[in-house]
Amino acid sequence: MHITVDKELCAGHAMCNLAAPEVYPLGEDGFVLAEIGEIPAEQERAARIGMTACPERAISIDPA
Ligand code: F3S
Repeated sequence: MHITVDKELCAGHAMCNLAAPEVYPLGEDGFVLAEIGEIPAEQERAARIGMTACPERAISIDPA
């Protein structure tokens, strides 16, 4: 499972981090890190919750 954050869409709401901090760490600028990349299977549920929490729909998950 691969996580991508569209930095053009991300507005720094940090709802993803609030929902799943282990998957969506914030950088020093308060925005989620651009390259999340591959995550382990045990974080998939948290990743989906965090993706759904983003009001900008900036997070996409590729199951491959
Ligand atoms: Fe950005 Fe959405 Fe998270 S706007 S900081 S990806 S909640």
